[in-house]
Amino acid sequence: MSERTAAMILGTGSEVSGRVLTNADLEKMVDTSDQWIRERTGIERRHILEEGKATSDLAAGAGLKAIEDAGLTPEDIDLIIIATITPDTSFPSTGCRVQTKIGADNAAAMDISAACSGFIYGLSLANAMIANGQVRYVLVAGAEVLSRITDWEDRGTCVLFGDGAGAAVLGPSDGKKGILSTYIKSDGKLGHLLELPGGGSLNPATEETVRQRLHYIKMEGGDIYKHAVRSMKEAAIEGLKRAHCKPEELDLLITHQANIRIIEALQARLKTPDEKVFINIQEYGNTSAASIPIAMDQARREGRLKDGHKCLLSAFGGGFTWGSALIQF
Ligand SMILES: CC(C)(COP(=O)(O)OP(=O)(O)OC[C@H]1O[C@@H](n2cnc3c(N)ncnc32)[C@H](O)[C@@H]1OP(=O)(O)O)[C@@H](O)C(=O)NCCC(=O)NCCS
Repeated sequence: MSERTAAMILGTGSEVSGRVLTNADLEKMVDTSDQWIRERTGIERRHILEEGKATSDLAAGAGLKAIEDAGLTPEDIDLIIIATITPDTSFPSTGCRVQTKIGADNAAAMDISAACSGFIYGLSLANAMIANGQVRYVLVAGAEVLSRITDWEDRGTCVLFGDGAGAAVLGPSDGKKGILSTYIKSDGKLGHLLELPGGGSLNPATEETVRQRLHYIKMEGGDIYKHAVRSMKEAAIEGLKRAHCKPEELDLLITHQANIRIIEALQARLKTPDEKVFINIQEYGNTSAASIPIAMDQARREGRLKDGHKCLLSAFGGGFTWGSALIQF
């Protein structure tokens, strides 16, 4: 256990709701096939949030479960960090909306925009703020309703994404469990590879931006793939190095669930056996910032992640961003 370990995960939770959209459903919407989607991505189905609900609803659901799992109440939470690229609105932040929905009246709340790496960024920030004594209990959630920014006429992207939320509550380490290392990095020069061009101050919404479909995700899949493998490997190796941990000491590897081939490429480079790699992309698709905390919560509930286990989280995403966290459970 590192002397610098300050914070530990006290509880986790996740929430998916809405209808299930299968690959067979997508075959009726765009020129694609179940076989193509499975072989190229590993995805079989994804969840689409029901109309009238938003990112804060999913985050609040996941957050309340994580708080209960931690044995705390919403009033105990000092800080809420919501990692999302699909906030309910630009402002108020989704964090503030979640605060109201769960009744965390004593908290400060904010959002983090780091795309699919957002949950790792949030963990890193929470860890640092607990370490320096500014806060005691932090709710970190990754929550996305990507279906609202997905171009359902673009087969290159619409087969990939899904909606959902996952959350963790962090508090001071008990000396046995804790966050052993965090690592975050970005390269803005690669921002154009994955972006939502419209709706911000650069291209505010007009009839023209709607006509040009600028309010939907634009992606250069092949280039992202290349950088994803490179950056997740760097993040994983750096995270392990910072905690003086060897890859073979890991009990579980949880990566961002974007594409099964990207996960397998990292697995091969770390020489991690199948039973130590958690994959649920088939069920949820790519849920961006939510993918790692949903997987972490599911792994705990299924007994794949137990007390005493060392788990490495590794992510990459738009920005370009990447990062890792090594956690002793
Ligand atoms: C998107 C991705 C699955 C595409 O897989 P790929 O093996 O690179 O496939 P390509 O883009 O080379 O496309 C191969 C062919 O399939 C076609 N194709 C693309 N999407 C398709 C779909 N949904 N169904 C059927 N065919 C499709 C392409 O048009 C192309 O056809 P062509 O050869 O006639 O031009 C892959 O590049 C990927 O996962 N990239 C990373 C994306 C990602 O992770 N984004 C989120 C980051 S957090």
